[in-house]
Amino acid sequence: ALVTTKEMFEKALKSDFAVGAFNVNNMEIIQGIVEAAAEEKAPLILQVSAGARKYAKPAYLMKLVEAAILDTGLDICLHLDHGEDFEICKKCVDDGFTSVMIDGSKHPFEENIRLTKEVVEYAHAHGVVVEAELGKLAGVEDNIKVDQKAATYTDPEEAAEFVERTGVDSLAIAIGTSHGAYKFSGDPSLDFERLKKIHEMIPNTPLVLHGASTVLPEFVDKCNAYGGSIPGAKGVPEDMITEAAKHGICKVNIDTDLRLAMTAEVRKYLQENPSDFDPRKYLGPARDAIKAMVQHKIKNVLKASGQ
Ligand code: G3H
Ligand code: 13P
Ligand code: NA
Ligand code: ZN
Repeated sequence: ALVTTKEMFEKALKSDFAVGAFNVNNMEIIQGIVEAAAEEKAPLILQVSAGARKYAKPAYLMKLVEAAILDTGLDICLHLDHGEDFEICKKCVDDGFTSVMIDGSKHPFEENIRLTKEVVEYAHAHGVVVEAELGKLAGVEDNIKVDQKAATYTDPEEAAEFVERTGVDSLAIAIGTSHGAYKFSGDPSLDFERLKKIHEMIPNTPLVLHGASTVLPEFVDKCNAYGGSIPGAKGVPEDMITEAAKHGICKVNIDTDLRLAMTAEVRKYLQENPSDFDPRKYLGPARDAIKAMVQHKIKNVLKASGQ
């Protein structure tokens, strides 16, 4: 069935695993992910950005996710990723999403609270849970100074006040991750002290880690070996994600790693089979690559198998 994150987060908060939240925008991606989650008997969040919603169209997305549930019997949470205003959150609630993110992190604190409260009120009235964000995810972190960090990373005291005043169900925090394939220019590092402090301040609030792709060298290299150009890509080491899951991180967002896995496979297939032109020939292996990536994440990184 379509479910909210309520039960999966209660469980994840009490133990060392985290729930994978994977970005989707087409049939092969959805199929690859749900096949992996079904085999691992793992809790699952499928998330859709505004851009993905526009690309795939809401009606197709809803039906694809319904089909995935029908086919696998899985419980799945369907979540809006980075909703930027009340309107998009409302549309997704009305469409049947079970979770929405209102990302007011670019606004001043008070405006973020006002906007989040507005979404919480509407969503809760419709049985939908809400994720908000406090703090700003940095771009490539070229050795920014401590005081600059403090300005963008999530402040633990503010986090407590934010959750209290908004009634939000989960909170995305900034501790050094960023979106995309270029997360660090130097050595990767996350502010675990800050994470622990936040978790201490709001122990009952499930925390969310965005920008959590690992950007596995194997897949970057595969893209590059078959005509791609993604030099110097770097992600969050897997052991840091596993560690974060022990300190309140209940939801781990992964998009870039799926893109890399899929694209590497398509590039390889097309280069090795220049006379093929049936899309199933390369989208099939691409779907398998998504499945393998998600299974690896669930099992080895998020420790969510059987949960
Ligand atoms: O946080 C961003 C996600 O990776 C979605 O990206 O807006 O290109 O769909 P997108
Ligand atoms: P990545 O770019 O690290 O996969 O992060 C995805 C994300 O945070 C989606 O909200
Ligand atoms: Na956990
Ligand atoms: Zn994100």
